Amino acid sequence: MLTLFFNAVVMSKKKVFLGILAFFVVIQLARPTRNEGTVPTATAISGLHTPSPQVYNALQKACFDCHSDHTNYPWYANIQPVGWWLNHHVEEGKEELNFSALAAYPAKKAANKLEEVTEAVTEHWMPMSSYTRMHPEAVLSEAETQAIASWAKTLQDSLNASK
Ligand code: HEC
Repeated sequence: MLTLFFNAVVMSKKKVFLGILAFFVVIQLARPTRNEGTVPTATAISGLHTPSPQVYNALQKACFDCHSDHTNYPWYANIQPVGWWLNHHVEEGKEELNFSALAAYPAKKAANKLEEVTEAVTEHWMPMSSYTRMHPEAVLSEAETQAIASWAKTLQDSLNASK
């Protein structure tokens, strides 16, 4: 009687395990569309103003994964639900600010976004800590922070003057 009971428990555990396994296999099929645009962000920004290589490289390493049409995906983006979670961040980030679309924003909007870029880097709330934990190379040095801030301010002023 007791062995029957234990057998039943073992069997149901196996079933639960197989169920979970099947669930993970199935969700792997639902891959989010990759954020990989055709126009390089450098070209897109240069429609507005060409940043120096220092500024461009800093933006690329610290911001473009979430704020451009070009995400450089880590291997674990291929594993769901991690890929969905990353995709959600990219969509949310791009909705707020897309450097690849900066030149296409109305001047006032672009100027406002650039003002926020300055705040985001000087007040160190971007790139977010959940990202820098996985991408320590994305932490901006003081020189890079200042370079981005001064580029964004110059561009913001020239956009405001052109209005
Ligand atoms: C891991 C993804 C990720 C990275 C990397 C990242 N951001 Fe963000 N960013 C977001 C998300 C998501 C939001 C919207 C939610 C929020 O404000 O937290 C956002 C919001 C912003 C906003 C606010 C825009 C608005 O109109 O309110 C600015 C400005 C910004 N980010 C600038 C930057 C800059 C500059 C960098 C690089 C130095 C950067 N971000 C790196 C994901 C990211």
